[in-house]
Order: sequence, then structure tokens, then C-alpha cells
Amino acid sequence: MTSKTTTGGPLGSNRRAFLSGAAALAGLAVATPRAFARASGRIEALLAEMTIEEKAGQLSCFADMIRPPVGDMNPLVNLRNAQTLTAEIKAGRIGVLMNGVGAQAALETQKAAVEGSRLKIPLLFAADVIHGFRTVFPIPLAEAASFDPHLAERTARAAASEASASGLHWTFAPMVDVARDQRWGRVAEGAGEDPYLGQVLAAARVRGFQGRDLKADDSMLATPKHFAAYGAVTAGLEYNSVELSEATLREVHLPPFQAAFAAGAMTVMSAFNDVNGVPATANKRLLTDVLRGEWGFKGVVISDYTADQELVAHGYAADDRDAARLAILAGIDISMQSGLYVRYLPELVASGAVPIATVDAAVRRVRALKEAIGLFDNPYRSLDPDAERARTATPAARALSREAGARSIVLLKNDKGLLPLPKAGKRIALIGPFADDRDNVLGAWGGFFADRRLNVDLATGLRAQLADPGSLIVERGCEVETTLAGGFERAVAAAQAADVVLLAVGEGQDMTGEAKSRTDLRIPPVQMRLAEAVAAAGKPVVVLLRHGRALQLEGVVRDAPAILATWFLGSEMGNAVADVVFGTVNPSGRLPVSFPIDSGQEPFFYNGRTTGRPAPADPNAQEYKARWRSIRNDALYPFGYGLGYAGFVLSDLKLSTARLGWNDTLRITAKARNTGQTHGEHVVQLYIRDRVASRTRPVRELKGFQRVALAPGADREVRFDLRRENLMFVGDNDYWLAEPGMFDLWVANSSVDGLAASFELLPPGQA
Ligand code: BGC
Repeated sequence: MTSKTTTGGPLGSNRRAFLSGAAALAGLAVATPRAFARASGRIEALLAEMTIEEKAGQLSCFADMIRPPVGDMNPLVNLRNAQTLTAEIKAGRIGVLMNGVGAQAALETQKAAVEGSRLKIPLLFAADVIHGFRTVFPIPLAEAASFDPHLAERTARAAASEASASGLHWTFAPMVDVARDQRWGRVAEGAGEDPYLGQVLAAARVRGFQGRDLKADDSMLATPKHFAAYGAVTAGLEYNSVELSEATLREVHLPPFQAAFAAGAMTVMSAFNDVNGVPATANKRLLTDVLRGEWGFKGVVISDYTADQELVAHGYAADDRDAARLAILAGIDISMQSGLYVRYLPELVASGAVPIATVDAAVRRVRALKEAIGLFDNPYRSLDPDAERARTATPAARALSREAGARSIVLLKNDKGLLPLPKAGKRIALIGPFADDRDNVLGAWGGFFADRRLNVDLATGLRAQLADPGSLIVERGCEVETTLAGGFERAVAAAQAADVVLLAVGEGQDMTGEAKSRTDLRIPPVQMRLAEAVAAAGKPVVVLLRHGRALQLEGVVRDAPAILATWFLGSEMGNAVADVVFGTVNPSGRLPVSFPIDSGQEPFFYNGRTTGRPAPADPNAQEYKARWRSIRNDALYPFGYGLGYAGFVLSDLKLSTARLGWNDTLRITAKARNTGQTHGEHVVQLYIRDRVASRTRPVRELKGFQRVALAPGADREVRFDLRRENLMFVGDNDYWLAEPGMFDLWVANSSVDGLAASFELLPPGQA
């Protein structure tokens, strides 16, 4: 969603109407996939023949130990090896296998189900195809920095093409959790801190994974996850409890799911966390009342990995049997990896603790899902070893990875135009643990399926573009968290011998992602000591940050004349960074997460509320205001911020009216001009603020953005539309509503600047 700001259904005075309003914010109506409606005849016939054991099997997903990608990832819970899995498939006791690779082995496994089992029900093959498969694209957070839904759709499409060629039907992606606390490691997997950007990218990724035709050989079912509010874990601690108001849940955390469903997602994964005391995986209100009741979702709910069994550790279920009962009654259709459904559903049904109708409803949904992708007509779809050879690690996928990488980079600072560097005539010292490192380019999910032979490190990428490859001196200096014998001395000597230093510092791949929460967001101390030593050589320093979250920058890293946020960019990282460093690509990424001044500000996000004592503009007037004792509560680099090698100026802000009628549209226009010498792209952003409302409102909310590409000296008009539906919030009794009154708006370069105007939303009936 770029220039077109969206409109929606009627303003609701009840939750259901409200939800159509919320979906309208994403510009999408909640879709009910027709495939579900059509499949019913065949499903009923099969259901009548199934035993309760076979039904429980269809509702169970296990790690694929027949074709595991990297051996046994989790021996503690992986009780099934290749032999036992095959035997159980033949006995009809498994519906889904996950995280296996390879078309040939999948073909044989599918044969075991289709030819070897009584009811011949084909298996679904699922996997965590998060940001690529063999060819890896930027981590989703990095790609969010592109503010480019079309790019996100293309990388998801390419990932689906490669993964489906390897015998996969279903991806456990996109991760759509809004993450407002950078301590949480899984920030890396999502679209950042903003719900609007989250909606736009959730929809784009679903469209990309699923393609135009779900039955096509290269289509993958998408799964928005983790439902819900996993991004709000207390203190950013992984798996921690969530305490959340209903308003924040509905305004911030749920909309990306709605956008994903509206784009056609037919499955969803439950979260590990509890929400206000009820674990998400046993949360009937979320999984059934909201998801199915309010939103009309007809698809399949899968638990996260052993999340049903974890209801016992939560202190919510008495034992495993009780956990299975609570999960299925709450609305979990498929149990992932715990095996609880296979073990307990037969006796839970026999004892009357779980109605057979509940099990049947879940089986119907799973069977409809298989039907929707054409598995009953062609159980061997996506299982063609020739296609696998043709569609794996193609030059086109690698080119896309490089393009996406370069578009994900954010230029945070560029004093005196230090960047881009010339390709000839300068000696460059590339220093830091990521200088020639190929193990930390992919990001947290990179270890899973990637073909790591494709990984391009920084040194290789930079050398390839230099007129004289010998003008690049490479020294690690230290490892990510440890010293390297003689490393500092060699690094300092390299800096002294060079005209300019590229300092590649930040987080290692295993410092981000699942179970990688951090208490502080700083670069590890050994790297900071290296940075200080290298900076003391007095050469201009360009910092190349490696990271899966917003970082706290300090010392010589913060003060370096040029800084690029380069995240984990995937297989083509070195080439993508070189493209930006040498100006082949003009950086145009914008931050999808705020960089705080200090880790202690977290959770920190741009769209908070003012408080009754907002911090004054004067930094010295600090007493009894909402600020820290030592720093203002500002960002070092705010959400939406990013520079380019071209300069952009916004001007001529115009509103079609200062008084917006209840059912009318406000047209906002402004002019963007490229004032630089280089062709460039800018992301023009629209924010609003509701000045006075019956609930305190965020200081700003993103409501639209538009990418504009401009030649040097050129300008273009950007346009946004706002309607009442875009001004709604969750008010009294947790209903969505819009209130007449004054609003501020900004057409901006980031969440803290912009051309300002205001308008009034008129009450109904007033022109
Ligand atoms: C993660 C999910 C993932 C699942 C299956 C879990 O630990 O939370 O995001 O899809 O594992 O691999």
C-alpha cells in the first residue's frame, strides 16, 4: 500500500463491524477462501470412514526425520526416527511432516501415505521457509526497511518457488508479530514496530508465498504467526508472559493477522506466550471467539512447537492429557510435535471430555486445506526431482537476493559525503569480525536450509567491485565476542596503512532470533575495544553494522562519520553491501524499528502516547517530566529514518479540505524533489495524531507511505487519501470508533519530522 490510503466498511458499534473496519485499515476485506467451501462432499465421505486414531493422526504434525535438513535438531522431544515415522504414516497416524528437504525423499514418503495407508490420505509437507530456502534473502526485519511491499512479495515468491521444488507445500511464515522491544530476539523475523507497515508487509508476503493459484506446483500455503501478541513478551524476554490491554491488542498486534487473512492465508500458528493469564495455545477467546467468530476465519490453526504440551509448565493444564483437551477445545486443529493428540484424543473422545464433533470439525478443516492445494487430485504435486534441480539456487534468485539486500540497507549517517567510496584510488581497510566471515550473513533461520556455499562475505563482495582488488586490506581484529591473537595490532596497522576504514561490527547470527533475548543492545565489548583502537589511527571510519534488531550505538561507532545499517542480508550480503558502499545502488532503506539512545529505554517505539508531562523541547528543563534522569526519551535514529546519496525535500503540502465530512475523503498532496546529483528513491510517509479523544492517543501513527524514484533535480507530487476509517481507534468498551474533532497530520521523511497541517473530522450529517 503506497500512495493509496485505504477506505473501509461502515463504522461499527460492535466488535464484528469493528473488525471489518480494522481490516479496512489494511485495505482488504477478510476473505473466505472458496476452496474451503467447495471441498465438502469428498471430505464428508472420507470422514465417515475414519477411525478416531486416523482422525488424531490427521491433526498431528511431526519433525521430518526421513529427510532432515541438519540432523536431529531437538533430540529431547524428537521421539520418532525415520523408521517409526514411516510405520506411523502407513498406519494413518500422521497428517503433516515438517522441516524436511528434498523432492526424491518426499516422493517416497508420500507414496508410503498414498499407497501404503488404508485411507490413502496424502501428507502435507511444511517447513520454516522464513526468508528464503537454499538462496537466502534479507531477514524480514531488514526487508521491512525497504518499505517496499512489491519487493517483499517477490522474495516470498522466489522462496516459495525454491522450497516447493524441494517437496514442500506449506511455510510457517510470515511472522507478523509487532515487536516494540528490541531486547526480544525475534524482532529479526518480523516487520518491526509499526502495525501499519506490518499489515502491508504481511499481506505482501502471503501473496508472494501463495502465488496466484494455490494448486500450482510452486505455490506454498502461508501461515501468519504467532497468534497472538508474542511480540509483547514482558521485558523482551523470550516466551515470557504478556500483559496487554484489549485496545493495544486490537490496534497493534492483531491487524497484521487480519491483513494476512484478507490476503488469503488459510492457516495460522498459535503463540507460546500467555495473554493476560491465558496461554495463547489454550485461548478460546482468541482462537475461536475472535478468529472464527468475529473474523470468520475458516482455515486451520496449528500450535507452535510442543506449545500444547507446554500448557502444563504454564500451570494451566494438570497434565499432558488435560493439555490436549484444553488445546483442542480452545481451537487448535493441529498439534505440532508433542504427539499429544495422537496419544490422548481417542480416550478424550471416548470419555466424553472432548466432543467428537470438535475433532471432526478440525479434521474437516485439515482435509479442506489439503484439498485446497490440490493434494487429493495430485498427491505428488511439488515432488519432482527435475524441477528441484531447475529451480534451486538459480541466477535469478541470487540476483533478487542481491537487489533485496541493497534495498534493505539504511544509511544512518554520512558526514561530508564520505560515502559512496570510489572504486579506485583509495586504500581501504576492512576491519572487524564480519570482514571476511561467511557464517554470519544469513540471519537466525539461515542455518536451516540454506546452501551456505552461496554466501558472499564482505571482503569478496567489495573486492569484486574494486579496480585493484589489492587495494582492500582485510583484518578481523577479533571474533564476535572473543579476542583473536594479535588481532588488534594487525587491525590498527591495517587502518594506519589505509585511506579509509570500513568497520564491520555488530551482532553474530546466534545473538538474534528465537531464544536470543538480550538484556542490552550494545555491540559486544571486545568489538568496541577494537573499534576504539582502530578509530585512534585517525582515518575516516565507515561503520557497517551487522544486526537483527535496533542496536544501542555508543562511542566511536556512534560518532563515526558514516554508518550503514546492514542487518543480515542473506546469501548475497557482500555484493549487496558493496553495491551501496560504492554507490552502484543509492541507499533508500528506512528504519522499521527505532534505534534508542540507551537500551534502558526499551520497550521503545515511536507511536507511544504523550503522558501528562511530555518532555519539553529544552533539554535542560528536565525536572518532573517524562524523561530519564540522564537522557531524553528520544530515538538516536527514529522509525522511518534513513538517508540517501541524493537529497530530498518535501514542499507544497495541500489538503483538499480542512473539514473532513463523516463519509468523505481527504486528499493530501505534497511535492518531493530530488535536490542531489544522483538518481534516488525516497520513502514519503504520512502520519496522523488525534489531538483530543476519549482514549489517549499515540503522538503519531503511520497511515501511509509512498516510494518515489526521482532523477537529479526532478520532482513529483505524492498523494494520500484519508477517510474516517483511517482515524478509528479502540475506545470505550473496547469497540472501534472514530470521534469528530481535530487531527494533526505530517507528510514526512521519518516519524519525527515533516510538513505539518491539521484538519477536523466533522460529526455525521455535517457537511
Ligand atoms: C517457532 C516457530 C516455528 C516452529 C517450527 C518454533 O520454535 O516458534 O516459529 O515455526 O518452531 O519449527
